[in-house]
Amino acid sequence: MKLIIDTDPGVDDALAIAIAVALPEISLLGLTTIFGNTFVPQSSRNARFLLDLFAADCPVAEGAALPWGAETYDPADNVHGPEGLGARADIPQIGQNTDEAAADFLVRLAQENAGELTICAIGPLTNIADALARDPGFARNVKELVIMGGALDQPGNITPFAEANLFHDAAAADAVFQSEMNIVMIGLNATLQTLLTPADLTDMARTAPKVGGFLEEIHDFYFGFYRSVGIMDGCPMHDATSLLACLWPERFKFTETGVRVIVDGDEIGQTIRDESRPNVRIALGVEADWAIQTAKNAVAQLH
Ligand code: RIB
Ligand code: CA
Repeated sequence: MKLIIDTDPGVDDALAIAIAVALPEISLLGLTTIFGNTFVPQSSRNARFLLDLFAADCPVAEGAALPWGAETYDPADNVHGPEGLGARADIPQIGQNTDEAAADFLVRLAQENAGELTICAIGPLTNIADALARDPGFARNVKELVIMGGALDQPGNITPFAEANLFHDAAAADAVFQSEMNIVMIGLNATLQTLLTPADLTDMARTAPKVGGFLEEIHDFYFGFYRSVGIMDGCPMHDATSLLACLWPERFKFTETGVRVIVDGDEIGQTIRDESRPNVRIALGVEADWAIQTAKNAVAQLH
């Protein structure tokens, strides 16, 4: 599978990227970065650091620094940490980003791999919406867009209504759901079922001391956030679950409907059914034990 991950690394993003590097089924053509869990320069620096840690390499194309129409953005650093990777504040710059902006990189790779490219978007959807705006053929060229985002008929996580990725740029997200892209939405309906425990991270550190040890370290900060909001039995594997859906959709239970993203007011970022929109597949459930074991098995392939 030819894959680009659009990412705001991000503790759970780091696990998803590790899995993508480890799985032989995936040919990782690039990482495009976005603001979200941290500022976009840190997202890019973290992406390059993670690729080096995972003994992998691919282009990193930096994307949007701000949501559509916004003049400022301020990440909530209490969830993923001050620099986006837990308590680590010393992440070095390793290598350089490609010169191409993320949206241009996405458009070009989709043209060069028309009908064969999967994009897994695990941050705000600004880069995807920008690519749609730059190339009317982008929606048709991309084989499938798998999104970590949204919540159908259930509460959000950043507000009572909205999931964080779609909340951070609701206008861009709504533009994506209006498009003709072949969209799979892996939202909280599924990802809140895949809860990693500290013991799972300890297992990863045992089977892959360098990579798993780092993942255990940065997840410690993430566990602390979830404990602070009363979720004691683990942290959701949001992004890794979405990555797994790219390869093994049969492990998920889907419904189909058009989707609208609320773009203003108290309910901004909420995903609601809209039959006037193109149908997307929305995950309502996942084989959670399988997902967690598959993630652990993938990390064990690294060093
Ligand atoms: O709501 C969860 C999503 O927001 C995940 O992608 C996490 O990394 C954060 O970006
Ligand atoms: Ca993310």
